[in-house]
Amino acid sequence: MTKKIEAIFREEKLDDVKKALYSIGIVGMNVTEVRGHGRQGGITLSGRTGTYQVDFLPRVQLNIILSDHNVEKTINTIQQAAQTGNIGDGLIFVYPVDEVIRIRTGERGHDALAYEGDIDTRQEVAMAGVA
Ligand SMILES: Nc1ncnc2c1ncn2[C@@H]1O[C@H](COP(=O)(O)OP(=O)(O)OP(=O)(O)O)[C@@H](O)[C@H]1O
Ligand SMILES: [Mg+2]
Repeated sequence: MTKKIEAIFREEKLDDVKKALYSIGIVGMNVTEVRGHGRQGGITLSGRTGTYQVDFLPRVQLNIILSDHNVEKTINTIQQAAQTGNIGDGLIFVYPVDEVIRIRTGERGHDALAYEGDIDTRQEVAMAGVA
């Protein structure tokens, strides 16, 4: 089964999250800039003319499509790397994915998500070492 991880977190954490993901063998990903708010509904700022409300704050959204046996490790990696402990650190959503097709080759499913040296290839190499 294939899943999509959608992680929304602070822009200044993108570099740390990216490096942490590379270190566990996550290869394919995409990032967009988003603006939003969670349960506090934005922030109130004070200026010279008084206070004003900012409803939507900038965050990054990182998307990764991957096999479901890699989801927990990837979520934990993102959470640790993106966390400051303050409100507004973000959220991680996980969705089911019906199909993946690599346009160049027509490969589908797991084959379309396999990369040289990725998280699964590393596990296969580790298993071969044990046998
Ligand atoms: N229910 C939601 N659906 C979609 N996006 C959301 C949702 N809640 C938050 N977001 C996105 O996540 C960003 C960060 O949310 P935030 O970390 O403030 O969540 P929270 O639930 O309020 O947690 P905290 O109490 O730690 O602030 C928001 O700016 C918004 O882009
Ligand atoms: Mg919040």
